[in-house]
Amino acid sequence: MKICCIGAGYVGGPTMAMIGFKCPDIEVVVVDINEARIAAWNSDKLPIYEPGLLEVVLAARGRNLFFSTDVNKHVGEADIVFVSVNTPTKTRGVGAGKAADLTYWEGAARVIASVSTSSKIIVEKSTVPVKTADAIEKVLRRNCSDPSVQFEILSNPEFLAEGTAIEDLTNPDRILIGGKDTEAGRAAIATLASVYEHWIAKDRILCTNLWSAELSKLTANAMLAQRISSMNSISALCEATGADVQQVSRAIGTDSRIGPKFLNASVGFGGSCFQKDILNLVYICETVGLQSVAEYWHQVILMNDFQKQRFVERVISAMFNTISKKKIAVFGFAFKKDTGDTRETPAIDVCRGLMADGANLCVYDPEVEDKQIYQDLGTEKFEWDHPSPRSAPIPKTAIAISHDAMEAARDAHAICVLTEWDRFKNYDYQAIYDNMVKPAFIFDGRNILDHAKLREIGFIVYALGKPLDPFLQKHYD
Ligand code: NAI
Repeated sequence: MKICCIGAGYVGGPTMAMIGFKCPDIEVVVVDINEARIAAWNSDKLPIYEPGLLEVVLAARGRNLFFSTDVNKHVGEADIVFVSVNTPTKTRGVGAGKAADLTYWEGAARVIASVSTSSKIIVEKSTVPVKTADAIEKVLRRNCSDPSVQFEILSNPEFLAEGTAIEDLTNPDRILIGGKDTEAGRAAIATLASVYEHWIAKDRILCTNLWSAELSKLTANAMLAQRISSMNSISALCEATGADVQQVSRAIGTDSRIGPKFLNASVGFGGSCFQKDILNLVYICETVGLQSVAEYWHQVILMNDFQKQRFVERVISAMFNTISKKKIAVFGFAFKKDTGDTRETPAIDVCRGLMADGANLCVYDPEVEDKQIYQDLGTEKFEWDHPSPRSAPIPKTAIAISHDAMEAARDAHAICVLTEWDRFKNYDYQAIYDNMVKPAFIFDGRNILDHAKLREIGFIVYALGKPLDPFLQKHYD
C-alpha cells in the first residue's frame, strides 16, 4: 500500500512519521510545495520542535518514510492521499475574520484530480467546515479526466496537541473515521482503519458518518477552549474575591462529571486551532440561521481576548500606571511549552499591549526564532499564513530579544511569564532579583512559579486568579 500526505506541517509531518514508523509494510511519502520545509524534514534539524519526533523520523526515514516536493508523482502513485494543508481563517471577502479559507484545500483537490490515473481514498486530515467533503468530491469528480477513477472521501480529523504530539499519536484516546454508509464507503473506512490497527486497538477506532466526523473536530476544539475561557472568567472573579483559582480547579476537577484536565487558568489560549476553529463554528452557525448558538460560542473568544487585556492592565496598574520606557522581560513567547509554534500565541497581544504603553520589552523563549517574533509582532491578526505588505516584521530596534533569561531580566522592572516552560521554575530568582530595578515585579501568567518563595526574596508578585499581593491589594483598595 502507498500513502501520500499533502502538507508537511505540524500535523502532516508527525502523523505520517508515526504511520511510517508503525507500519514498515506501507510506503509513506509526505509532500509539500514548500521546498525549505521538505529540506528540513530531510535533515537532522526538523522544521518543527516536538519532543521525541526526531527519533521517530530517524527510525523510518529512508526505509518507508520519505519527504518530497514532487507532489504530482507521489499523489499519482498513492492508494490513500491524506490532505493536511493549512485551513486558516479568511482574511478578506465574504466571511472574512471567521470563515475557513479553503483555498489550499481546493488547490490540493485540483492537483489530486489532475494527476490521478487510479482510484484513491482521499482523507481529510485538515480541520475543515462541516460539509467540506461534499464540495471536495465535486471538485475531484469534475476535474478528473479519467472516468474510471473513483474517489472515496473520508474524514479523519487529527486530535494531537502540539508539544505532546508523539505521545498523542502513539497512544491516542481515539481515532475518528467518518465515511459514507455505502459499500465503497464502508470498504474505504475498513482500509484506513487497517492502517491504524497496526498499533491501535480496534475499540479505539470510532466510525461515524462524514458530517459527524467533520463536526466533531470543531466541537472538540470549541469545548476545550471553552473550558479554558470558563476558568479564565473565574480567575477574574477569584482576584476580586480572594478565592484561589487553583483551589477552585482542584475542587471542581475531582467531580468525575467535570474531570481534572484543561482547568488551568492562564493568560489566554493560543495556537493555530482553537480560535480559528471556533470562528469557523460561529460562521457555520450564522450561515444556517442559528444566531444564538453562534453568539454562545463567540463568547469563548471574547473571554480569551478579555483575559489578555486584563493581564496587560494588571501590569500597567501595578507598576504605578506607567510602564513607559521601563524594561520588562518577557519569559516565553510560544503559545505553550515544548513547542516553537507562535501562531495566535497570547504573547503577541500581551506584548503589543505593553509596547503600546511604551514599555521596552526584552523577550526570551528557548525555542522560538528571533525572526518569528519580529514577524509576529508586525503581523495583522489572522494573517500568519499569508502576511500582507502591511504586516512587515517590526523593526529590530522596537523590541529586544535575548537568548538568556538572566540577561533578559537584567535591569528590568518586571518579568512577565507568558509560556509555562518547565525551565522557568528552576531559575535562581534571587540572582535575577538582585540584577533588577526595585521594586521588582513578577506577573505570572501561567501560575508556574513558587510565589511564596518569590515574595520572600522581595518580588511583588501577581499570580493569575490568586489572592492579590498585599502591595497590589493596597493599590486597588
Ligand atoms: P501547517 O501550516 O503547519 O502545514 C500545512 C502545510 O501544507 C504547509 O507546509 C504548506 O506549504 C502545505 N501546503 C499547502 N497547500 C499545499 C499544496 N497545494 N500542495 C502541497 N503542500 C501544500 O498547518 P498544520 O498546523 O499542520 O495544520 C494543518 C491542518 O491540520 C489544519 O487544518 C489544522 O487546523 C489542522 N490541525 C492542526 C493541529 C495543530 O496542532 N497544528 C492539530 C489538529 C489539526
